Amino acid sequence: MPPRAVLFDAYGTLFDVYSVAQLAEQLFPGQGQVLSVLWRDKQIDYTRLVTTCNHGAHYQPFSELTRSALVYAIKKIAANASDESDEQQFPVNFEAQYGGQIEQLLDQYQRLAAFPENLLVLQQLKAKGIPSGILSNGDASMLNAAVTSAGFESLLNHVISVDTIRKFKTHPDAYALGEQILGMPAKDIVFVSSNAWDALGATWFGYQTLWVNRYHLPFEELGTQPTRTGADLSAALDFF
Ligand code: LAC
Repeated sequence: MPPRAVLFDAYGTLFDVYSVAQLAEQLFPGQGQVLSVLWRDKQIDYTRLVTTCNHGAHYQPFSELTRSALVYAIKKIAANASDESDEQQFPVNFEAQYGGQIEQLLDQYQRLAAFPENLLVLQQLKAKGIPSGILSNGDASMLNAAVTSAGFESLLNHVISVDTIRKFKTHPDAYALGEQILGMPAKDIVFVSSNAWDALGATWFGYQTLWVNRYHLPFEELGTQPTRTGADLSAALDFF
C-alpha cells in the first residue's frame, strides 16, 4: 500500500550536521572534520544513555546533550593535542578558554545547512498534497530555529519533538508520536532518515522507511532492511 504521509528525521537528514566542520576547522585548525564526527557520535551516545538508564531519570533535552557532547569533543581534541607530561589537562578555566568557540559552534548548529535537494522535495510533496513533518530528537526551540533558517516553515505540516515524552529515538514511544500526531498507523507513513540506526528503529516500529544513504555506507547488520534506500531525499517522492 502506498503511504499517505511522510515524516523526516531532522539532523543528518534535512540538516547537514557535518556542515559545522568548516567553522570547526577555522576554530580548531586541522581538527574540524574529526571534531564534527566526535561531536555527533557523542551526542547520539548521550541520547541512548539518558533514555535507557534508570527509566529516564537522567533525561536532558537534545540541546543540552548537544552542548555537553561538544564540550566532550573539544576536551578530547585538546587532550590529544596537549603535552602528555601536562598533568592538568582540563584546567578549571576550560569554559573561559573555549567558551567562545563553544558558543560559535552551538550558534552554527541553530543554522545548519540544509541538503541542497531538500527544498524542492518538500515543495513537491506539498504540491501533491502529501502531509509532511519532522519527527526528531531535537527540542522545539532548536528545531524551529533550523526549520526557519532553511525556509521550510510553510512546507511542513508538523514539527514533532520527542522532548514532550522525554525519551529519544529509538525508544518506541518516540516513534509512536508520529502515529499519534498524524492520526494514522505507522504502516501508512513513510519515515525518512539518513541515520541507518534511525531507519532501522522506524522499520522495527512499523513504518515504511526510506534510508537516505548519502555517504555510501553499509546498512545496520541486524537482519532487517529499510523498505527502500535512496541516494538523496528525492527518493522520498518515489513512494507517492
Ligand atoms: C534527529 C537526530 C537524531 O533529528 O538526527 O532525531
